[in-house]
Amino acid sequence: MKNLSTVKVFSPATVANVACAFDVLGFALESVGDLITAHKTKVPGVKITKIISPYGELSLDPKHNTASVAAQTLLKNLDPGLGFELEIEKQMPIGSGLGSSAASAAGAVFALNELLNRPFTQKELITFAMEGERVAAGVAHADNVAPALLGGFTLVRQGLPLDVVKIPFPEQLVIAVVCPLIEVRTEDARKILKKLIPFKRVVEQFGNIAGLVAGLCQKDLELIGRSLQDVIIEPERAILIPGFKEAKQSALDAGALGCSISGSGPALFAFCKDLAQAQKVADALALQFKKIEIDSLVFTSAINRTGCAVVEGQ
Ligand code: HSE
Repeated sequence: MKNLSTVKVFSPATVANVACAFDVLGFALESVGDLITAHKTKVPGVKITKIISPYGELSLDPKHNTASVAAQTLLKNLDPGLGFELEIEKQMPIGSGLGSSAASAAGAVFALNELLNRPFTQKELITFAMEGERVAAGVAHADNVAPALLGGFTLVRQGLPLDVVKIPFPEQLVIAVVCPLIEVRTEDARKILKKLIPFKRVVEQFGNIAGLVAGLCQKDLELIGRSLQDVIIEPERAILIPGFKEAKQSALDAGALGCSISGSGPALFAFCKDLAQAQKVADALALQFKKIEIDSLVFTSAINRTGCAVVEGQ
């Protein structure tokens, strides 16, 4: 293995929850993400030297940035006798529900692991990156960092030990995403959730989660569409997204298999059976936010299969 002193990695955006599976399911997106460059330095510790973030400011303070917090957690488990400088180039809005904090955390630990000749397993990298999420969300959830690191669809069983399982999905699935340019902090979107849920609704949600996982494994698009319903979290979080109900309905009317909030929002994602349908759905979603005078970013994406990947190294 080549001894690298600098590495640049791509770390994908992710959609967590996937409607019904709160903190459990997630998948990675092909077309957007972070670029993280890590350099070895003689000074121990982690320093963030540069952040390019066209959609909002992020802290350079290593205690408050998810990338440096995750990187420092990795270094607590191995003292390489050197330090690291990080440059972060964000290619997505922050506070958007597209796993921005996870992309930085996952990309940073992936980059350091490459520079150190891969002393850690993927699962260890997930646990380090989760500490970055603790800074952003107040809780170390893994449903964004797991797919960011591993690619594809992941299922997280957050017990001891932590189980992270990659699950298959239909090849043709294309995602339409709309990201209204308003910020929703994950921490706030978690605080509003009710602690007590009627038993009947929990059973309904269990059926949706099981149906979604079975539909993905069996590549059954109709079952996936029917199961993509969140009867617990979405009704509560919808109030944080102006025009949510109308936007979701417009995606379904344009032919989407299903549509829900991406992570803690405000982005919405929709499953589509091909690119032409995804484009139609994306246009419908964008139009809906335009009608209520909210600017939005809209794109279609395949599912990223590889997760974090090196784009340059020297
Ligand atoms: N599972 C997390 C939440 C994802 O919904 O709060 C945040 O992107």
